[in-house]
Amino acid sequence: MARYEIHGGTPLNGTVTISGAKNAAVAILPAALLVSGQCRIENVPDISDVRILLSILEGMGAKIDTTEPGVVLVDCTDVTSTCPQQELVRKMRASYYLMGALLGRFGKAHVALPGGCNFASRPIDQHIKGFAALGADVEETDDYVALQPGSNGLCGNRVSLDVVSVGATVNIMLAAVLIPGQTVIENAAKEPHIVDLANFLNTMGAHVSGAGTDTVKIRGVESLKGGTYAIIPDQIEAGTYLAAAAATGGNILVKNVIPKHMECITSKLAEMGAEIIDYDDAIRIRSNGRLRHATVKTRPYPGFPTDMQAQICVCMSIASGVSRLTESVYETRFFGYCSELESMGADIQISGKTAIVTGSEKLYGATVSANDLRAGAALVIAGLAAEGTTWVKNIHYVERGYEKLIDKLTALGAQIRRIED
Ligand code: UD1
Repeated sequence: MARYEIHGGTPLNGTVTISGAKNAAVAILPAALLVSGQCRIENVPDISDVRILLSILEGMGAKIDTTEPGVVLVDCTDVTSTCPQQELVRKMRASYYLMGALLGRFGKAHVALPGGCNFASRPIDQHIKGFAALGADVEETDDYVALQPGSNGLCGNRVSLDVVSVGATVNIMLAAVLIPGQTVIENAAKEPHIVDLANFLNTMGAHVSGAGTDTVKIRGVESLKGGTYAIIPDQIEAGTYLAAAAATGGNILVKNVIPKHMECITSKLAEMGAEIIDYDDAIRIRSNGRLRHATVKTRPYPGFPTDMQAQICVCMSIASGVSRLTESVYETRFFGYCSELESMGADIQISGKTAIVTGSEKLYGATVSANDLRAGAALVIAGLAAEGTTWVKNIHYVERGYEKLIDKLTALGAQIRRIED
């Protein structure tokens, strides 16, 4: 077990470079299963979710080379297994992308149900609906999902999602790329990493159009060939550093970002009183004086991301006035961190889907526990902004998604260290 020790109260200052997007990497690496030949994938974050995924692929027979920092060479040509190692699959959420990728490559799959952050009930009925629409016979138990071709074989089809789901959109795209005929996903998610996955697949020879709109079309091709692709910067990692600068009254330059992807976050921070300056691939944030209260509702992209809910809640908890934070994607997400923030002096009342946050003058250091990835990141921000010392436990959650967090924060002047208990 390890924890972070944070001596709070120092405004962040300096420059931070954002890593490749976690949620894009965990979709693109399984997509390499569809490719005959080597993929050179650049800007891959070195985080535990990526390391687990690489172990799973290697266990299935993929050749993996991670010698060059930030680069993964992956060649799945010789993979024959359609049953990835269960214990590893259960360690992360996005391992469910192996279902779509294996269905596309081999027409069958036997994949354990995923683990990862359990901040809410996270059904996969829309993924299953998509696989079935493409002609798969689906066996779903409490332990695993098994897919094989139905009596009429696999064929492209129209799938209209009942809820906007990132995971289902990705999984259906992965399955459809090598399946004959045209697949149309309606009510598709529009997150930047959906577009990134489509760009990766198209670079390797797929025919995917419409990614980033609510209708994605995939025309099945016979095969994909190897190539080189660089993953987009991580919108949520960048948002986390921006929120940390806002909460500590800092002045930082966040490099390697796509400012357009950040608008849903920067517009709220600006409303709260932070000064935001956009450059071509960087954003400066300056925060002087106390932040102002705000009203935020999480929504699928291009709305305010649920993955930034906890971080903005920290900003609200020390802003002047009463803020309202409404969660519309994962209703139970507040329970992962609000009580921890309250132990640091925050005043949060939860009423259904909305948290009413009355800004406190200060937060105070405490021992708190991360219950999921973004909740953990929020507690780190709270510790940086608080008076006194904070210890954040359960940091394995944070390490699932933030590359070199300690190094990056230390370079910004934060007093934070990782303690191995
Ligand atoms: C992805 C992100 C996660 C983010 C979430 C919402 C990855 C690897 N993870 O998770 O960081 O918090 O999007 O932006 O990209 N739903 C169903 N049935 C389904 C699938 C989803 O009802 O089959 C519901 C969910 O319960 C949730 C909503 O749809 O209320 C959105 O979930 P979804 O977009 O699928 O989230 P994930 O892909 O799991």
